[in-house]
Amino acid sequence: MQITLKLLIFVIALMRAGATPLSAETFTERVESCLACHGAKGESEIPEVPSLGGQPAPYVLIQLYLFREKQRAVDIMNEVTAKFTDDDLRVFSDYVATLPPPRPSSDGADDARLQSGRALITQQRCNSCHGLDLAGKESIPRIAAQREDYLIKSMREYKSNARPGYDPAMASVMAPIDDAQITDLAYAVARFR
Ligand code: HEC
Ligand code: HEC
Repeated sequence: MQITLKLLIFVIALMRAGATPLSAETFTERVESCLACHGAKGESEIPEVPSLGGQPAPYVLIQLYLFREKQRAVDIMNEVTAKFTDDDLRVFSDYVATLPPPRPSSDGADDARLQSGRALITQQRCNSCHGLDLAGKESIPRIAAQREDYLIKSMREYKSNARPGYDPAMASVMAPIDDAQITDLAYAVARFR
């Protein structure tokens, strides 16, 4: 029986693949790529990329699941999670929850905007779900000291329904809030301490 060269190459390739599986990357190597965008110390330095530090593991697990299932549409995150197993979802979310929370933004606080944002937080009862310290809990995200640009982006997306979320709560919360109020809210939340 004659084995064609093509088949031989194919078999050798298969054996090689078996010896060094494509998934040989360690967890540390995989998580490094996440932290290159999201910040190694829980705090993102890239515009519109959220800080992940201090996010409750159950919230992160739900969001990674939504990304994998393309129910939250963000190209880069849909790609990154496309091949995630259920175990990956758990391991990555448990890891994210161990990163230290971001520090509040400290650049030039404008008192009038801070006051306006804080008043809105109270009026709209953001604390009733996100907690008095806005640190979130279980499936509710931490928002305290999140990047201001990302806060604005996410609130606009809840309002327009571009981001439906796993729970429609945020769409109803945002319905009566206009864009100027969104920017004041983000201003105060990013500086919340
Ligand atoms: C190239 C940059 C990039 C890489 C790499 C990346 N992310 Fe992201 N990630 C983003 C962006 C951008 C968003 C926010 C999308 C949006 O606007 O809603 C995001 C959102 C998230 C969120 C949702 C946060 C929230 O507050 O809702 C989680 C969780 C997350 N990423 C985890 C990861 C993990 C885990 C990895 C590695 C497996 C990873 N990311 C790799 C850019 C990246
Ligand atoms: C009834 C409960 C509830 C109230 C009240 C509420 N939120 Fe939320 N919020 C949620 C839930 C649940 C999510 C996550 C939904 C999802 O995207 O899957 C969320 C997500 C968010 C996010 C996205 C965080 C991230 O990391 O992506 C921001 C920002 C936010 N809320 C801000 C606010 C602000 C500001 C207020 C007050 C004006 C508020 N929320 C009031 C329940 C609430």
